[in-house]
Amino acid sequence: MYHWQELYDHCMACENCDLSKTRNTVVFGEGNLHAGLMFIGEGPGADEDRTGRPFVGRAGQLLEKGLEALGVSRDEVYIANVVKCRPPNNRVPEDAEGDACIGWLRNQVALIRPKIIVCLGSTSLKWVVSRDARITKIRGEWIEKNGVFIMPTYHPAALLRDESKKMPFWHDLKKAVKKYKELLDE
Ligand code: URA
Repeated sequence: MYHWQELYDHCMACENCDLSKTRNTVVFGEGNLHAGLMFIGEGPGADEDRTGRPFVGRAGQLLEKGLEALGVSRDEVYIANVVKCRPPNNRVPEDAEGDACIGWLRNQVALIRPKIIVCLGSTSLKWVVSRDARITKIRGEWIEKNGVFIMPTYHPAALLRDESKKMPFWHDLKKAVKKYKELLDE
């Protein structure tokens, strides 16, 4: 298993798949290395590829606002993606790209050891939970895997396209934060 610096250095130089050819920068992930609560998205978009930081575009601002409304600051949690390089035109990462990249995320989870993971959207769910899990079927319900509580919910970018997803997302986020705060108090 890697230590943080080694993991970071290797990941930042990764050429495991062709996304490395079109990226501006690797978006490693950021936040509290001891976070009890971790968010996992799909992959960097244009803003993330430009800045090197996850979830800084419109979707990220929505997530951050939601968290702040629940009394959780962005630096308290850890935010990462399934793939660390931007897929061209923000397409969904291909299976081979996810396969090539997922080891970085697994190492991040192993080092952070979060109590709760919120899967944002179907790509995250696919790689973190199982290939055939469907977000529309299982969002909002806890899944326990290897001692970690996983909350599947919509990707915040989906809320920007479809208002009707806002309430369920908010509900799931509240549920995740409530459990997180309970576990903190234990
Ligand atoms: N969407 C994602 O899935 N991840 C990001 O970092 C930004 C947008």
